[in-house]
Amino acid sequence: MSEVAVIGAGYVGLTTAACLARLGHDVRCADVDAERVARLAKGEIPILEEGMPSLVAEGLATRRLRFVVGAPAAAHDAEFVFLCVGTPADATGAADLSAVEAVAHEIAPLLVPGAVVVTKSTVPVGTTRRVARWLAEAGAVTDVEVASNPEFLREGSAVRDFLQPNRIVIGCDDPTVAVRISELYRTIPAPMVVTDAASAEMIKQASNAFLATKISFINAVANVCEAVNADVRDVALGMGYDDRIGSDFLSPGPGFGGACLPKDTAALLQTAQEFGYDFSLLRGVLDVNDRQRDHIVDLVRTMAGGGLAGCRVGVLGLTFKANTDDLRDSPALAIAAALVDAGADVLAYDPVAGEAAAARVPGLRVVTDPYEAVADAEVVALLTEWNEFRWLDYARVAATTAVPRIVDARNLLDPAAMRRLGFTYRGVGR
Ligand code: UDX
Repeated sequence: MSEVAVIGAGYVGLTTAACLARLGHDVRCADVDAERVARLAKGEIPILEEGMPSLVAEGLATRRLRFVVGAPAAAHDAEFVFLCVGTPADATGAADLSAVEAVAHEIAPLLVPGAVVVTKSTVPVGTTRRVARWLAEAGAVTDVEVASNPEFLREGSAVRDFLQPNRIVIGCDDPTVAVRISELYRTIPAPMVVTDAASAEMIKQASNAFLATKISFINAVANVCEAVNADVRDVALGMGYDDRIGSDFLSPGPGFGGACLPKDTAALLQTAQEFGYDFSLLRGVLDVNDRQRDHIVDLVRTMAGGGLAGCRVGVLGLTFKANTDDLRDSPALAIAAALVDAGADVLAYDPVAGEAAAARVPGLRVVTDPYEAVADAEVVALLTEWNEFRWLDYARVAATTAVPRIVDARNLLDPAAMRRLGFTYRGVGR
């Protein structure tokens, strides 16, 4: 069993730390936020993630998982140091690597000979080699190795995605180091792709950009379906049976969001541009995604009779997808904000992120009950596919609204049933 340090206790770091402890390793997980560390040490989980509370409780009980303040407290004498700090997009869309650089400088003098520093954060191609340079500049001993081991976790199913992955990717210029990293995962029966660091980083970015492409493709098809009176759900079903296409990631909606897909797609486009290749396909993917948000706003506007000023809109769902409390690059939040900007009187409900959303969007009012959000609404906009929205009492919703009209941006509801209840119903691509 290995001594592992995980730097960063966000979605990626916490999942990595808790799951590596489950695999039997001794893990120290560090964060700069002392309050977060104190809460984690008591087993309080700051994010909504299925299976995480019990996994962290197990790690704390077996003492395989410990939380510490600051990277040095975790990295000294660790055999593996996983870098899981944030890499937010800067104003140009490029990933801001300052946190990675700061940690590299901080830990460099503490690393023991033979330590392996592994990048797990979403980073642009070339970062792992830059980490090696930053470590050397900051005085790391010469036989410290660097590698890339990208994660493919989806929020909401991160624990399952970590412990039962489709594949494990290890990128390192020294094959013996790749073997050492692979041993951390030896109890996981998944295909392992061992390659160089740049290729591993590219696998991560290209995978996310490809998933984004699938979503924009189906959203564009949905818009054509609306024009020709076809039903995109049947179209996606019929396409998905072709193994070469597959049925995953063919659900149309308000566009993709979250911390990874938009950022990685933009980053790959930017990397290509830097090297003189115009990856126009990805520009199209991002463009379709931006326009999809506008399209949902237009559907609400049309339903409201052409103008949004003063219109009462009841919004259901604000997170970027269901089963997460994450609002980063949330299409639902952006649409709610656009409705507020257009002068609508928006009352929103989200099962977990209402207050956090209100703090981000001035003028957005949030309530803690879905029926309150739709009370007196002239249009209801269902923006995130929370399961509980399937099971609302829509007869009660119809009676509560000023006019029973709904834009179902997630195609969550049955149009015929909604129409029977008196709703004017609009989904996406149907
Ligand atoms: C994604 C990748 O799936 C994961 O492999 C990577 O490690 C991190 O980024 P995540 O951001 O958690 O995971 O969300 P995901 O479930 O992939 O959804 C991304 C966005 O696409 C969401 O906004 C979601 O609503 C949207 N989406 C997804 C669709 O609009 N249609 C689909 O068919 C699937």
